[in-house]
Formats: sequence, C-alpha cells, structure tokens
Amino acid sequence: MVGEGRPQEVRVALADADATHRLGVRLGERLRAGDALALVGDLGAGKTTLARGVACGLAVDDPDGVSSPTYLLVIEHGGPLRLLHADAYLPQKLAGFLRDGGLEYLFDPAAVAVVEWADRVRNLMPERTLWLQLANDKHGGRAAVLTATPGDFPWLGNLPKIV
Ligand SMILES: Nc1ncnc2c1ncn2[C@@H]1O[C@H](COP(=O)(O)OP(=O)(O)OP(=O)(O)O)[C@@H](O)[C@H]1O
Ligand SMILES: [Mg+2]
Repeated sequence: MVGEGRPQEVRVALADADATHRLGVRLGERLRAGDALALVGDLGAGKTTLARGVACGLAVDDPDGVSSPTYLLVIEHGGPLRLLHADAYLPQKLAGFLRDGGLEYLFDPAAVAVVEWADRVRNLMPERTLWLQLANDKHGGRAAVLTATPGDFPWLGNLPKIV
C-alpha cells in the first residue's frame, strides 16, 4: 500500500555547483502544487544553489533572486507555480512563525515549498515531503540523497542519476 514500507531512496552524484543547480532544475520541472522539498546539509553544502535550480525549473519570475532566507524566514517568488522558500537555520524563529499560522502559508496547496535546514523543524514538515540531503564527497563535489515515502513522488525513481 502507498505510504507504507521502507523509504524510497535515490542517490545522485554532483561533481560541481552546476550539477547541483541542474538537479534543482530537474526537481523544479517535476514538482507539483502542494509539494514540499526539504533541504538538509551543513553550511555551504549547496542548499541555496539547489533551491535556485528549483526556481529555474519552476520558471519563477526571478530565479536569480533566490538567496538564503535566514532572517526573512520565508521568501515568496511569483510565477506559473509560486515558490515559497524558507530557512530553518534559526529553528526557533521559523517554528514560532509556523505555529502562529505560518504552516498554512508555507505549505500552500497551490504553491511549492522549499525549506533549507528542514531537519531543524522536522516535526513541522508535511508527511508527504521529499527530503534531500547534501554532503561533501571525497573529490570536492557533493553527494545528494533523496528520500521519500514510496509513491509520494512517483517520478523519483526515474530521476537521472547523472546530472
Ligand atoms: N556539487 C558541488 N560541488 C562543489 N561545490 C558546490 C557544489 N554545489 C554547490 N557548491 C558550492 O558550494 C558553495 C555553497 O553553496 P550554497 O550557498 O548553495 O550552500 P548552502 O548550503 O546554501 O550554504 P549555507 O548553509 O551557508 O546557506 C557555493 O560556492 C557553491 O557554488
Ligand atoms: Mg544557503
């Protein structure tokens, strides 16, 4: 049954920043209204690079305007499908906002939500979230691991492993 079983896991090697961007573009092209993408990774892992790629894939109006929303909490980018870009680097701030009604704003069924440092507000993320972990590889690049409940993102298994 959909929603049960082991999480579906897909690994993608990202040799350089352009590859991180391209993975974001591919995700942005596939994400649908109401989807949530959780980005996890240390300082400098490539979360914002990936989010900018997602913005390009969604064809938002100002993809180059995507930057870390640390102090603004959520930045909205208009377009055919709106992008709500949030950051939980300061988890108390984002969690407070979300608990005060922000959940409905961020996880709008008509928009796509991308949350950096989402592991810091894990219990506030929707159950149906695509998790993406970025980590350094041995060669100066990054390794991405995408995780979801099987069936939640049906295209996940077909995502090209080489970007
Ligand atoms: N696959 C990659 N290989 C090598 N460098 C990369 C890769 N992806 C991104 N970078 C580079 O890593 C640096 C940090 O990227 P970025 O700002 O997107 O990270 P971040 O996770 O948002 O960082 P922070 O947590 O500080 O906001 C940038 O210089 C970016 O070009
Ligand atoms: Mg960032």
